[in-house]
Amino acid sequence: MGTISHLSLLLFFTLTLSVDAKLNLDAADNHALITILEDLGVYGDLRRPDNLCNTAGIFCERRISNESYVLKVTGIVFKTQRLRGSLSPAIGQLSELKELSFPNNYLLGGIPPQIANCRKLEVLKLRNNKLSGEVPGELSALLRLRILDLSSNKFSGDLGFLKYYPNLEKLSLDNNMFTGKVPVSLRSFRNLRFFNVSGNSFLEGPLPALNQLESPSSGLQKTSYKRVPKRYILAESTSSSTNQTRNISSSSNNLQASAPAPSPMATPSKHKKSNRKKTLGVILGLFVGSIAGIISAIIFTVIFKLLVIAIKTRAKDSGPAIFSQSIKAEELAFLEDDDAVAALQIIGRGGCGEVYKTELPEGKIKTIAIKKIIQPPKDAAELTEEDTKYLNKKMRQIRSEIQTVGQIRHRNLLPLLAHVSRPTCHYLVYEFMKNGSLQDIIQQVNDGTREFDWPRRHKIAVGVASGLEYLHLDHTPRIVHRDLKPANVLLDDDMEARIADFGLAKSIPDAQTHMTSSNVAGTLGYIAPEYHQTMKFTDKCDIYSFGVLLGILVIGKLPSDEFFQHTSEVSLVKWMRNVMTSDNPKEAIDPTLLGNGYEEQMLLVLKIACFCTLDKPKERPNSKECRIMLAQIDPLNLVQSNDLHVD
Ligand SMILES: Nc1ncnc2c1ncn2[C@@H]1O[C@H](COP(=O)(O)OP(=O)(O)O)[C@@H](O)[C@H]1O
Ligand SMILES: *[C@@H]1O[C@H](CO)[C@@H](O)[C@H](O)[C@H]1NC(C)=O
Ligand SMILES: *[C@@H]1O[C@H](CO)[C@@H](O)[C@H](O)[C@H]1NC(C)=O
Ligand SMILES: *[C@@H]1O[C@H](CO)[C@@H](O)[C@H](O)[C@H]1NC(C)=O
Ligand SMILES: *[C@@H]1O[C@H](CO)[C@@H](O)[C@H](O)[C@H]1NC(C)=O
Ligand SMILES: [Mg+2]
Repeated sequence: MGTISHLSLLLFFTLTLSVDAKLNLDAADNHALITILEDLGVYGDLRRPDNLCNTAGIFCERRISNESYVLKVTGIVFKTQRLRGSLSPAIGQLSELKELSFPNNYLLGGIPPQIANCRKLEVLKLRNNKLSGEVPGELSALLRLRILDLSSNKFSGDLGFLKYYPNLEKLSLDNNMFTGKVPVSLRSFRNLRFFNVSGNSFLEGPLPALNQLESPSSGLQKTSYKRVPKRYILAESTSSSTNQTRNISSSSNNLQASAPAPSPMATPSKHKKSNRKKTLGVILGLFVGSIAGIISAIIFTVIFKLLVIAIKTRAKDSGPAIFSQSIKAEELAFLEDDDAVAALQIIGRGGCGEVYKTELPEGKIKTIAIKKIIQPPKDAAELTEEDTKYLNKKMRQIRSEIQTVGQIRHRNLLPLLAHVSRPTCHYLVYEFMKNGSLQDIIQQVNDGTREFDWPRRHKIAVGVASGLEYLHLDHTPRIVHRDLKPANVLLDDDMEARIADFGLAKSIPDAQTHMTSSNVAGTLGYIAPEYHQTMKFTDKCDIYSFGVLLGILVIGKLPSDEFFQHTSEVSLVKWMRNVMTSDNPKEAIDPTLLGNGYEEQMLLVLKIACFCTLDKPKERPNSKECRIMLAQIDPLNLVQSNDLHVD
């Protein structure tokens, strides 16, 4: 026994050794890397190690090449190293490269067009160098790019390289010498959360969605724009102004009309296949029939039945996916007719498209809300085969995520009733919530057209916490909302909170993450501070947004409220913190709620709001703790404890 275990242990060690320690950097990568480091000006400072992967700043991962394992370079990161060299064209030879970061150096020269060969590149940070010249148009081949930071360099030329980056989350081009216009194609970058083009004195023309802010359709927007004149947050091109939206919809219609080819459903190939099947069947049938009628008849019926089945399953594939028994596929047939949809009443507009309302003649659910999600506009000519494959994969991912969301039922989550996919868009069908969203209600309260007492607000707070608890802790896999805000908290007939737009964040990011023009500053006000560094959304980011929501419920003002622009903190969260630590924390409470006897309760809720919005994500409570703390504060029970207990 002993020897056997010894042997196996030995075997284990030699195996792991041979797999890990003896792995060498791929010869081609090694060669390219040496050139790159020399050109950067790194190499002189380094002793030459056996394996460049052990060098600080070089990241490698194991890959299979030629049926054996090798290490490939996946990252080169040198921050603030006084590098005075340039970017070598040899970068293009690193096929597995994911990150290239050289911020705060003195690099000269331009971006070599060969970088387009790094198809897996996700992060390109060249901030604060002395790079110049035009950014090569080839860059737009990098479909996986998530972060592109070229700020504080001397880049010139136009922004033509901004063609289509479906995964781009952060785009910083500030402090350069770019010329021309910011292309409207920015609208189709569905993951974009942040862009900054300020400090480019030669850029001309309007920024997408920015022109709207200048038009004084609301005083609020105007001030938030004034306050951050040099920072442009992408509003995903949507706006409440009909002019702009009309222009957008017409331009996207044009795109669809000129490029009908890349139907994501891949129906053309299916057609071909079934045609082939049909002709085969006919020939086969005739041939066999001429020999023996009976056999042919049998074969015919079999083939016919197969064909019928094939057609039926295909119809099922592209037809509506129904997730609720209270709605029937036939009732949604009208969604196949674009004109019929266009004629519906529009009740809202988000970054992904319009939200319509319609009545169903029969069935349990009388009124439905239909959310349209427009596909990113794409030009057939510009799509390589690989891109098409990628998009098709994306489509399947959307379908499977929607499938998951369709199964979720919780009393504080807005259930998805059905999903209809069309060649150029998706429709998500929900029950219509006639009490609207929390955002609507807060606005009505501020306009003085609605009362909103504390017990109701408290019930909404507990409801949202329970919904979050379900998404974060009860559902597997865990679902991070990513865009929790009052517009996504709808209220049902009992004024029970129902969280909308959950679960689709990964594949249809801006279904959750876009910023409507009505709260450009507002949506920003819900995003946890660490997100801007990590670019990752965690459940603790949702908690931060939830904390802001709690603040709103007590303070009675949205983060985009003009009020905060006139405070020294300029943000709801910071203002709330300061008032809470001041001598008179009651100042934070919505004046319409003062004198109702709930002041102590409301201050406790503000305390929870402060916990939830702590800067360090780890210090924030989780959703279950939030729900328990809130439930302990009971407006119906006027004998209240001043302490919070969390188990
Ligand atoms: N099921 C629904 N019932 C009632 N109103 C809805 C429903 N879904 C969406 N809305 C309204 O449509 C608006 C736009 O929705 P959406 O596209 O999700 O954008 P956002 O949530 O960012 O405002 C919402 O703010 C809400 O007022
Ligand atoms: C794989 O290895 C063989 C021989 O070792 C070599 O001839 C061939 O070029 C290699 N292929 C690749 C893709 O590296
Ligand atoms: C945008 O760029 C300008 C100029 O570099 C900078 O001052 C500003 O802080 C940036 N905005 C953000 C949000 O980073
Ligand atoms: C919208 O268009 C109308 C005319 O079509 C014009 O009068 C109005 O000023 C425009 N509004 C904005 C915000 O551009
Ligand atoms: C709409 O687009 C046309 C050209 O496409 C442009 O002339 C017009 O100014 C645009 N209107 C608005 C409100 O942006
Ligand atoms: Mg929404």
